[in-house]
Order: sequence, then structure tokens, then C-alpha cells
Amino acid sequence: MEIISFRNNSLSLLDQRKLPHKEEYVKCKTYSAVSSAIKTMVVRGAPAISVAAAYGYALGALAGKENQACNSLLSSRPTAVDLANALNFMRANRTRKSPVALAREWESSVYEKCRKLGLHGAKLIRKNSKILTHCNTGPLAVGKYGTALGVIAAAHKSGKKPFVWVKETRPRFQGALTSWELGKMRIPHKAIADSAAASLMARGEVDLVILGADRICRNGDFANKIGTYDLAVLAHAHKIPFYVAAPSSTLDSRLKSGNSIRIEHRDEKEVLELSGRRIYAKGTHALNPAFDVTPHTLVTAYITENGIFRSPDALWKSMKA
Ligand code: MRU
Repeated sequence: MEIISFRNNSLSLLDQRKLPHKEEYVKCKTYSAVSSAIKTMVVRGAPAISVAAAYGYALGALAGKENQACNSLLSSRPTAVDLANALNFMRANRTRKSPVALAREWESSVYEKCRKLGLHGAKLIRKNSKILTHCNTGPLAVGKYGTALGVIAAAHKSGKKPFVWVKETRPRFQGALTSWELGKMRIPHKAIADSAAASLMARGEVDLVILGADRICRNGDFANKIGTYDLAVLAHAHKIPFYVAAPSSTLDSRLKSGNSIRIEHRDEKEVLELSGRRIYAKGTHALNPAFDVTPHTLVTAYITENGIFRSPDALWKSMKA
């Protein structure tokens, strides 16, 4: 199944809001349609929105509206740096190739990075490991392969028989997407409520935690889906390895630490409503940060296309090599 495709100057995106019930596509013929698809989470996941943004920029360039496209796409979702990195790539290389050819180049490079990081990360997984993951980091969140789920898939392919605990990831329930993908890959798993992680760890039911990132800073602090920081603290308290898997397009060389990451706050309805029906009393308001920041001190290792890195310094050195 194609998750993202570009043909005849039209970007086709599998509508992730409809999964797992319907497999429908949204077609975007303008940069503003792409911005809106990113904002409304038709497409989501840091690498996947970078690929969509690259094609959005290309559509803008074809219409002679590069700057407008850039501004609109950049403001669609602020936390994942992959999107900004894609737009910087498109702008910096605009004299080298046609905009569509450049977007295809970005897309292939993202997929290739994720393919490689999956193979590196699989080395960290022992046979029959029980793995806890958060949010969705599979092919849907990249376009192909996945980040953390790509690692799990590579371990599964090599016969290591991983089992996965899938956190539901309120309020947008990306855990349902993860479980749908794991089902397609025939990887054994169970969904759990977000609040079940601590007791599973205490009972020895979790061998390692692996998840993705939306922005990794110079000191190794990183932003990821809300609920990641809780997991990192819990993993530390239970002496469980905590791994972050991300392509280098998720690295932000300009931000020194996680304190300066801009966290996206989404509509309070995502918390207050379930399937469009209000579950809180009238008059209740909600705070809905979509991401949190985890300090580098809680990370056991970072996994990128360049290998496995046990310190932020080693991670950044690999970028210069
Ligand atoms: O709000 P989302 O669904 O775009 O958030 C996605 C995540 O936080 C992922 O875990 C992250 O992008 C890293 S792996 C693709």
C-alpha cells in the first residue's frame, strides 16, 4: 500500500485519520492543500510530514509561489524539525534540479535513512524481547520502513521474535495505528492504556523501551509525542534501556537544549471529546500539548542511519564524519 505518492502534479496521502476502518486517500494539488493535510493530521509523523512538505514546496514552486508555500508549510506544525529541514533542503538546492525531482530526492533519502537505522537498531534487540513503544513510528509515520517500529520490524525479520506493548497514546490514539501496522507485519503485540506502563515495568514485563523523536537538540534533549518523558523517567527508575530511533533529518543543530523547543498545542477538543462526543462536563477546559521534552540524561542510546550512539557527543560527531 502506498502511503505517500506524487503523480501528475498531485500529492496523494493515505488519510491516517480514517484508519484502521477505511483506507482512503486525500489528493493535494496545491501547497495550501498540503499544509492543511499536515495541520489536520491526514499525514503525521516527523519524517512523513517532511516528505509531504517537500512536495508541497514543489507544488508552490511550480505555481511561482515558493515563499508563500514555505511560510504556509512551516507554520503547519511547529515541533518536528524534519519539516523545516526538508524546506531548507528544497530552498538550498533549487538551482540544481526541478522542484519535483528535488522532492523525490528528499523522499528517497528519508526512506534510505530509516531503512539503515532499522538494521542498526535491530542489533540492540535480544531474542524474545518484550518491547514497549509509544505513539506511531511505523511506515505510516515515515512513508516507508518507520523509525522505532522499523527497528522492531527489522528484529522480527531477522527471527528475534519480539513482542510489543503498544501504548494507546491519548489523545490522538496513534497506538491504534501502531497496532494496525504490527498486525499487518504479523508481529505479536498488545495495546495498553497509557497509565499501564509503570506496573508492567515493575512486574518485569518490559525489556526495553524504543520510540522516535520529533527534534533532537545539540545536548541530546529531544521532543517526542506527549507521554515520552513519563516513560523515560519510568524506564530510568526500573533500570530499563531507553532507546530513541530517528533519521538525521530529526537533528536540530541550531538548538542547544530542549528548553528552546517550541511545543505544539492542539485544540482542546482532542482531549475533551471522544469520537466527536464530549466526555467532560460543560465548562471544563483542557490543556493539550502534543509533545514533551525528554532530557538527554535519560537516553540509553540514539539510533540513526549512521549507527548506535551512547552519548549526544557521539551522535553529533557521527554527523561530521
Ligand atoms: O503528532 P504526530 O502523530 O505527528 O506525532 C508523531 C510522533 O511523535 C512520532 O513519535 C514522531 O514523529 C517520531 S517517529 C516518526
